[in-house]
Amino acid sequence: MGREGSLIARSLVEERAFYRFLNPVGIVTACHGGRCNAMSAEWTSLISLKPYLLGVYVARERYTHSLIEQEEVFSVSLLRNDQAAVAVLFGNATAWEVDKTPLLEQYTEPSPLGGGPLVKGANAHFVCRIDARHTVGSHTLLVGVPLYARAVARDEPLAYHGGRYYRLGEQLRRPGSR
Ligand SMILES: Cc1cc2nc3c(=O)[nH]c(=O)nc-3n(C[C@H](O)[C@H](O)[C@H](O)COP(=O)(O)O)c2cc1C
Repeated sequence: MGREGSLIARSLVEERAFYRFLNPVGIVTACHGGRCNAMSAEWTSLISLKPYLLGVYVARERYTHSLIEQEEVFSVSLLRNDQAAVAVLFGNATAWEVDKTPLLEQYTEPSPLGGGPLVKGANAHFVCRIDARHTVGSHTLLVGVPLYARAVARDEPLAYHGGRYYRLGEQLRRPGSR
Protein backbone atom coordinates (compact mmCIF):
# COMPACT_ATOMS: atom_id res chain seq x y z
CA MET A 1 0.00 0.00 0.00
CA GLY A 2 1.35 3.45 -0.95
CA ARG A 3 1.64 6.40 1.39
CA GLU A 4 -1.72 7.83 0.26
CA GLY A 5 -3.46 4.49 0.76
CA SER A 6 -2.23 4.12 4.31
CA LEU A 7 -3.47 7.63 5.17
CA ILE A 8 -6.93 6.85 3.77
CA ALA A 9 -7.05 3.61 5.76
CA ARG A 10 -6.44 5.62 8.94
CA SER A 11 -8.97 8.41 8.21
CA LEU A 12 -11.78 8.89 10.69
CA VAL A 13 -14.53 11.34 9.80
CA GLU A 14 -16.81 12.51 12.57
CA GLU A 15 -19.87 14.19 11.03
CA ARG A 16 -20.41 16.71 13.80
CA ALA A 17 -16.93 18.19 13.25
CA PHE A 18 -18.30 19.78 10.07
CA TYR A 19 -20.78 21.78 12.14
CA ARG A 20 -18.10 23.43 14.29
CA PHE A 21 -17.40 26.18 11.76
CA LEU A 22 -18.52 29.73 12.46
CA ASN A 23 -19.72 31.75 9.46
CA PRO A 24 -21.47 34.97 8.55
CA VAL A 25 -24.74 34.84 6.61
CA GLY A 26 -24.65 36.47 3.19
CA ILE A 27 -27.70 36.99 1.00
CA VAL A 28 -26.53 36.35 -2.56
CA THR A 29 -28.66 37.96 -5.26
CA ALA A 30 -28.55 37.91 -9.04
CA CYS A 31 -30.81 38.90 -11.91
CA HIS A 32 -31.10 37.58 -15.44
CA GLY A 33 -33.69 38.10 -18.17
CA GLY A 34 -35.83 40.31 -15.92
CA ARG A 35 -35.94 37.75 -13.08
CA CYS A 36 -34.10 38.31 -9.79
CA ASN A 37 -33.57 35.90 -6.93
CA ALA A 38 -31.93 35.72 -3.51
CA MET A 39 -30.54 32.89 -1.38
CA SER A 40 -28.75 32.65 1.95
CA ALA A 41 -25.07 31.67 1.86
CA GLU A 42 -23.00 31.05 4.97
CA TRP A 43 -20.02 30.12 2.80
CA THR A 44 -19.28 33.73 2.01
CA SER A 45 -15.81 35.08 2.71
CA LEU A 46 -13.14 37.60 1.90
CA ILE A 47 -10.53 35.42 0.13
CA SER A 48 -7.86 37.93 -0.98
CA LEU A 49 -6.62 41.28 0.35
CA LYS A 50 -4.52 42.50 -2.58
CA PRO A 51 -6.65 42.71 -4.57
CA TYR A 52 -9.81 42.43 -2.48
CA LEU A 53 -11.72 39.35 -3.66
CA LEU A 54 -14.88 37.75 -2.30
CA GLY A 55 -15.63 34.04 -2.47
CA VAL A 56 -19.15 32.63 -2.42
CA TYR A 57 -20.01 28.93 -2.70
CA VAL A 58 -23.32 28.28 -4.45
CA ALA A 59 -24.63 24.72 -4.91
CA ARG A 60 -25.31 23.86 -8.52
CA GLU A 61 -28.98 23.00 -7.92
CA ARG A 62 -29.82 26.44 -6.49
CA TYR A 63 -32.11 28.58 -8.63
CA THR A 64 -29.72 31.47 -7.95
CA HIS A 65 -26.95 29.39 -9.57
CA SER A 66 -28.97 29.18 -12.79
CA LEU A 67 -29.15 32.99 -12.89
CA ILE A 68 -25.50 33.57 -12.00
CA GLU A 69 -24.41 31.08 -14.67
CA GLN A 70 -25.66 33.53 -17.27
CA GLU A 71 -24.44 36.75 -15.66
CA GLU A 72 -21.15 38.46 -14.88
CA VAL A 73 -22.24 40.36 -11.75
CA PHE A 74 -23.79 39.28 -8.44
CA SER A 75 -24.45 41.00 -5.11
CA VAL A 76 -23.95 39.97 -1.49
CA SER A 77 -25.46 41.51 1.64
CA LEU A 78 -23.94 40.45 4.97
CA LEU A 79 -26.79 40.28 7.47
CA ARG A 80 -26.97 42.06 10.81
CA ASN A 81 -27.73 40.22 14.02
CA ASP A 82 -31.39 41.30 13.96
CA GLN A 83 -31.93 39.78 10.48
CA ALA A 84 -32.00 36.02 11.14
CA ALA A 85 -35.59 36.03 9.82
CA VAL A 86 -34.25 37.23 6.45
CA ALA A 87 -31.74 34.35 6.39
CA VAL A 88 -34.58 31.89 7.01
CA LEU A 89 -36.89 33.42 4.39
CA PHE A 90 -34.30 33.36 1.59
CA GLY A 91 -32.56 30.19 2.72
CA ASN A 92 -35.43 27.82 3.45
CA ALA A 93 -37.37 28.26 0.20
CA THR A 94 -36.21 27.74 -3.35
CA ALA A 95 -37.34 29.75 -6.35
CA TRP A 96 -37.74 26.43 -8.19
CA GLU A 97 -40.89 26.08 -6.02
CA VAL A 98 -41.89 29.56 -4.80
CA ASP A 99 -41.54 32.99 -6.35
CA LYS A 100 -39.43 35.10 -3.97
CA THR A 101 -40.35 38.36 -5.74
CA PRO A 102 -42.63 39.59 -2.90
CA LEU A 103 -39.78 38.92 -0.41
CA LEU A 104 -37.32 40.78 -2.63
CA GLU A 105 -39.71 43.74 -2.80
CA GLN A 106 -40.09 43.79 0.98
CA TYR A 107 -36.49 43.22 2.10
CA THR A 108 -34.25 44.60 -0.65
CA GLU A 109 -33.42 47.84 -2.44
CA PRO A 110 -31.93 48.29 -5.93
CA SER A 111 -28.17 47.94 -6.36
CA PRO A 112 -26.42 51.10 -7.54
CA LEU A 113 -24.18 49.05 -9.87
CA GLY A 114 -26.07 46.10 -11.33
CA GLY A 115 -25.95 42.57 -9.98
CA GLY A 116 -28.89 41.72 -7.73
CA PRO A 117 -30.70 43.92 -5.21
CA LEU A 118 -29.24 44.56 -1.73
CA VAL A 119 -30.85 43.73 1.63
CA LYS A 120 -32.04 46.90 3.38
CA GLY A 121 -30.22 47.59 6.65
CA ALA A 122 -27.61 44.84 6.14
CA ASN A 123 -24.22 44.97 7.90
CA ALA A 124 -22.37 45.39 4.59
CA HIS A 125 -23.21 45.48 0.88
CA PHE A 126 -21.09 44.22 -2.02
CA VAL A 127 -21.59 44.12 -5.76
CA CYS A 128 -19.04 41.91 -7.51
CA ARG A 129 -17.91 41.19 -11.02
CA ILE A 130 -17.22 37.48 -11.45
CA ASP A 131 -13.49 36.94 -11.93
CA ALA A 132 -13.52 33.11 -11.85
CA ARG A 133 -15.84 30.14 -11.33
CA HIS A 134 -14.47 26.90 -9.89
CA THR A 135 -16.34 23.65 -9.48
CA VAL A 136 -15.71 22.45 -5.91
CA GLY A 137 -17.59 19.22 -5.22
CA SER A 138 -21.30 20.01 -5.05
CA HIS A 139 -20.74 23.78 -5.22
CA THR A 140 -19.42 26.46 -7.54
CA LEU A 141 -16.94 28.85 -5.99
CA LEU A 142 -17.62 32.28 -7.42
CA VAL A 143 -14.64 34.60 -7.11
CA GLY A 144 -15.87 38.18 -7.17
CA VAL A 145 -14.05 41.49 -7.68
CA PRO A 146 -15.89 44.11 -5.61
CA LEU A 147 -17.24 46.97 -7.72
CA TYR A 148 -19.13 48.39 -4.77
CA ALA A 149 -18.60 47.81 -1.04
CA ARG A 150 -20.38 49.66 1.76
CA ALA A 151 -20.46 49.07 5.53
CA VAL A 152 -23.13 50.41 7.85
CA ALA A 153 -22.02 52.52 10.82
CA ARG A 154 -22.31 49.84 13.54
CA ASP A 155 -20.71 46.46 12.91
CA GLU A 156 -23.26 43.97 14.25
CA PRO A 157 -22.92 40.75 12.23
CA LEU A 158 -25.20 37.75 12.31
CA ALA A 159 -23.24 34.56 13.08
CA TYR A 160 -24.24 31.03 11.97
CA HIS A 161 -22.89 28.00 13.81
CA GLY A 162 -24.14 24.42 13.90
CA GLY A 163 -27.38 25.38 12.15
CA ARG A 164 -28.19 28.11 14.67
CA TYR A 165 -28.07 31.91 14.58
CA TYR A 166 -26.07 34.00 17.06
CA ARG A 167 -24.96 37.54 17.76
CA LEU A 168 -21.34 38.06 18.85
CA GLY A 169 -20.72 37.91 22.58
CA GLU A 170 -18.01 39.23 24.84
CA GLN A 171 -14.85 40.56 23.16
CA LEU A 172 -11.84 38.71 24.57
CA ARG A 173 -8.71 40.48 25.72
CA ARG A 174 -5.96 39.99 23.16
CA PRO A 175 -3.40 37.61 24.74
CA GLY A 176 -0.29 39.55 25.75
CA SER A 177 -2.06 42.93 25.91
CA ARG A 178 -2.80 44.76 29.21
C1 LIG B 1 -28.21 30.08 7.03
C2 LIG B 1 -28.15 29.40 5.69
C3 LIG B 1 -26.94 29.32 5.01
C4 LIG B 1 -26.84 28.71 3.75
N1 LIG B 1 -25.65 28.69 3.11
C5 LIG B 1 -25.58 28.21 1.84
C6 LIG B 1 -24.35 28.30 1.11
O1 LIG B 1 -23.32 28.81 1.57
N2 LIG B 1 -24.35 27.83 -0.16
C7 LIG B 1 -25.45 27.26 -0.74
O2 LIG B 1 -25.40 26.83 -1.91
N3 LIG B 1 -26.63 27.15 -0.06
C8 LIG B 1 -26.71 27.64 1.20
N4 LIG B 1 -27.90 27.59 1.88
C9 LIG B 1 -29.07 26.99 1.25
C10 LIG B 1 -29.77 27.94 0.26
O3 LIG B 1 -29.90 29.26 0.78
C11 LIG B 1 -31.18 27.37 -0.02
O4 LIG B 1 -31.05 26.10 -0.62
C12 LIG B 1 -32.06 28.27 -0.86
O5 LIG B 1 -33.37 27.76 -0.79
C13 LIG B 1 -31.63 28.35 -2.31
O6 LIG B 1 -32.52 29.21 -2.95
P1 LIG B 1 -32.71 29.21 -4.54
O7 LIG B 1 -32.89 27.77 -5.01
O8 LIG B 1 -33.99 30.02 -4.73
O9 LIG B 1 -31.52 29.86 -5.12
C14 LIG B 1 -28.01 28.17 3.15
C15 LIG B 1 -29.24 28.23 3.83
C16 LIG B 1 -29.31 28.83 5.09
C17 LIG B 1 -30.64 28.91 5.80
